[in-house]
Amino acid sequence: MNRKVNYEELINRLTALTEDVPYPIANLANASALLWEVLPDINWAGFYMMEDGALVLGPFQGKTACIRIAVGRGVCGTAVAEDRTQLVPDVHAFPGHIACDSASRSEIVVPIHVRGNIWGVLDIDSPYENRFTDTDRESLEAFVKVLEKAL
Ligand code: SME
Repeated sequence: MNRKVNYEELINRLTALTEDVPYPIANLANASALLWEVLPDINWAGFYMMEDGALVLGPFQGKTACIRIAVGRGVCGTAVAEDRTQLVPDVHAFPGHIACDSASRSEIVVPIHVRGNIWGVLDIDSPYENRFTDTDRESLEAFVKVLEKAL
């Protein structure tokens, strides 16, 4: 399956959209819309933000999702606890995966940092097993680096 994405263009569009925009929620909303428009074969793209020591649902595209995720729970909470990207080829094989949409089969979660602290996560789900590659991981980590300047 050809899922090649022009990540350079995607990141340039994010830069243009968020540059000099001092509204974090607006920037996250546009970032989720951009991912939703450009990435093939996904069923959810959005953000969870740290609030009072837990992850709370932020702007997203896709079906309604769980509102609060404790650190260490699910793929998102594990990304925070371990402070590193989680690339999950098969969510059914991930202990504690939280199924917001039963159609999800694979997932990638990238931690977001602001001023050295974890600020939240980018979460993308796919209805296909093995949807995300190392190229997606590297490119989405670069996407998050740009976004961090806009939060
Ligand atoms: N699957 C995630 C929960 C969030 S939804 O996918 C939008 C998890 O296990 O943390």
